[in-house]
Order: sequence, then C-alpha cells, then structure tokens
Amino acid sequence: MYLCICSGVTHAQARKAIEKGVVSLAGLQNRLGVAINCGSCAGRAEAMIEQIQSSDRRNYSLAGAVRPFVPASSPL
Ligand code: FES
Repeated sequence: MYLCICSGVTHAQARKAIEKGVVSLAGLQNRLGVAINCGSCAGRAEAMIEQIQSSDRRNYSLAGAVRPFVPASSPL
C-alpha cells in the first residue's frame, strides 16, 4: 500500500527508513521523496513516524521489564 502516491513510496519502504533512523518528515522527504510534491501524504507520514517511534519506546520499556540485565557475577 502506498504512503506517497506521487513518489511511489510504500508504507513498507517508509517503515524501513524510520526503523533505520529517519526521525522526521524532512528525513523521509530527503531519503525517499515522501511529501515533496502535492504534500497530501505529509500528515500520514508524520503520524507513521510518531507511531513507530512510540512503539519502539514501548517495546524497549517492556523488554526491560521482562528481562532485566543482571551481570553474570551478580549475587542475584
Ligand atoms: S501523495 Fe505524497 S506528495 Fe503527493
């Protein structure tokens, strides 16, 4: 499914770019050409960035709660 029809960018391509470090609409514009033509996809692109970033924060937090780091030499 396309995120940006004007530039032919799919949701999967945008997700991959965000997961590799793109953190802003400007980043998606520079990397993939999202929202550089009609601009109608800009809001969806920003929402996607926020959703993936908040999901990553939540997953990181949950991972820490489930598997705390305990050094091998710890008496625990
Ligand atoms: S749909 Fe993305 S710039 Fe037009």
